[in-house]
Amino acid sequence: MDRTLTALITGASSGIGLELATIFAKNQTNLVLISRNKSDLEKIKVTLEKVYDVNVYIYACDLAKPDCAQQIYEVMSNEGIEINYLINNAGFGDYGEFIDSDAGKNYDMMMLNMVTLTEMTHLFLPAMKDHEFGRILNVASTAAFQPGPLMSVYYATKAFVLSFSEGISQELQGSGVTVTVLCPGPTETRFQKTAKLESSKLFNSVNVMDAQIVAQAGYEAMQDGQVILIPGFVNNAFTILLRFLPRFIVRKMVFNLQKKA
Ligand SMILES: NC(=O)c1ccc[n+]([C@@H]2O[C@H](COP(=O)([O-])OP(=O)(O)OC[C@H]3O[C@@H](n4cnc5c(N)ncnc54)[C@H](OP(=O)(O)O)[C@@H]3O)[C@@H](O)[C@H]2O)c1
Repeated sequence: MDRTLTALITGASSGIGLELATIFAKNQTNLVLISRNKSDLEKIKVTLEKVYDVNVYIYACDLAKPDCAQQIYEVMSNEGIEINYLINNAGFGDYGEFIDSDAGKNYDMMMLNMVTLTEMTHLFLPAMKDHEFGRILNVASTAAFQPGPLMSVYYATKAFVLSFSEGISQELQGSGVTVTVLCPGPTETRFQKTAKLESSKLFNSVNVMDAQIVAQAGYEAMQDGQVILIPGFVNNAFTILLRFLPRFIVRKMVFNLQKKA
């Protein structure tokens, strides 16, 4: 029971982020919840404070906008809130051929999935290191392990999250701060609809996981200081198989999997 600790979670209003918020609250950790929709966050705050008797601070902002990480950091400093757990979870994908993609959407995806995640980590890490305690959980995807035709930008952003997280986890060895990268496979959330993926073969497989199970696995790995966590047997097996296949086969395989059913 750590009543004095606080977790900041981005993308906390839905899916994996909301499940993580609930798990932290159950474990008596105070929360800072961030996403764009303030009224969603207000409802979640009321519920979590009432059910779990924790303090929940909400902040609505668009994390794809430049400087939003700095804004959040300043708000936390002004409010005197120290962040002990940083959960960089917010992210989205977009389905289709790159040539037909929306340039603005690609920019927002790269800002949200990579740039803001990096800036948030850069801003909140020094205090964690000074206090010799901190846990950072970055949400990547099984998409991080291979190229992703028909979602090329999204897969590339998640490869960045995996590589970046592994890199800094090594730099921080022995500091008291750990970095975990959660790599879910297909998971039942709003993600599919946002990414226009509802009829892709990938999301019509039996392997779509429950967001609560994914979040719980990520939470436990983060508490243990594990570096990479791929939830689910099938997702793990698939990632291992990829290591033994030539990349030209992998590209083709992912292309076929990503096609609409
Ligand atoms: N679901 C999957 O199959 C799957 C698989 C692998 C990895 N992931 C990763 O898991 C993470 C969580 O996604 P999810 O599946 O839980 O999807 P989700 O249900 O769509 O949740 C996304 C969350 O991010 C917030 N968000 C989106 N854009 C934002 C922005 N510009 N600024 C601030 N907040 C923003 C959303 O709230 P607002 O819309 O209110 O801002 C929402 O709270 C993502 O990084 C995703 O890439 C998902």
